[in-house]
Amino acid sequence: MKKVAYITGGSKGIGLGIAEAMCKAGMRVAISGRNPEALQSALSKLSQIAEGEVIAIQSDVRKLEEEQAAINKVLETWGQLDICIANAGVGKFATIEDLTAEEWNSVIDTNLTGVFHTVKASIPSLKSSKGYIITIASLAGTNFFKFGSAYNASKFGLVGFTQAIMLDLREHGIKVTTIMPGSVSTYFNGRTPSPEEDWKIQPEDIGQMVMDLLRMNPRTLPSKVEVRPAIPKKKA
Ligand SMILES: NC(=O)c1ccc[n+]([C@@H]2O[C@H](COP(=O)([O-])OP(=O)(O)OC[C@H]3O[C@@H](n4cnc5c(N)ncnc54)[C@H](OP(=O)(O)O)[C@@H]3O)[C@@H](O)[C@H]2O)c1
Repeated sequence: MKKVAYITGGSKGIGLGIAEAMCKAGMRVAISGRNPEALQSALSKLSQIAEGEVIAIQSDVRKLEEEQAAINKVLETWGQLDICIANAGVGKFATIEDLTAEEWNSVIDTNLTGVFHTVKASIPSLKSSKGYIITIASLAGTNFFKFGSAYNASKFGLVGFTQAIMLDLREHGIKVTTIMPGSVSTYFNGRTPSPEEDWKIQPEDIGQMVMDLLRMNPRTLPSKVEVRPAIPKKKA
């Protein structure tokens, strides 16, 4: 039976790279995000790889009821859920004096509470399938930096959350991993991928890493994976 995956923030960047790798591997893939045009564009792209095996769901991870409805849609469509990728995230970077409460809430609500919502909604079906949860944290979940108070707090929190639920869920046969990437060439924080970013990790590399994790012998669980560019950017 084909495996079924749900990927939050699957319309762009890392999430889309993971979706592409899964479609190429013959899986059924549901992607989610807030922006309908971005979802439609990603759906068209993925359908060229795996026609009829992809759906796009508009859902904001900051709302538990929307994540619950998204998981229900996956179950209505394919009757099962095997893999949940909690990837959606945003970044706001400023000194603590300049950072607004609105920016703080947006980062924490998306990167930390949003993952809690996605995980909570997916646990019952993943218990049945003995599935896999992968969260996309960041090296910012272990290395702090200037302007990073909200983002560091969200990703340090996410690494702790993911490691704790790994211990809760592995006794139910659910594997849990957090991937902590360094610089990846995506649309993150208003950027646009360009040839100048070819020194960075590419989204398809994270896709390959996810497929490697899924193919790991079932007795073994890489619970926390750091990944960074092999060669740092040359200084100008
Ligand atoms: N790029 C990097 O260097 C890097 C490094 C380490 C970790 N990460 C992490 O990787 C993850 C993906 O980021 P990316 O680099 O791929 O950025 P991206 O290209 O900007 O993609 C972000 C995705 O998340 C979605 N998203 C944002 N807020 C959402 C919400 N409230 N509900 C549902 N979907 C939402 C976006 O769609 P909508 O805006 O349409 O909702 C989009 O699909 C994030 O968690 C980020 O922190 C990135």
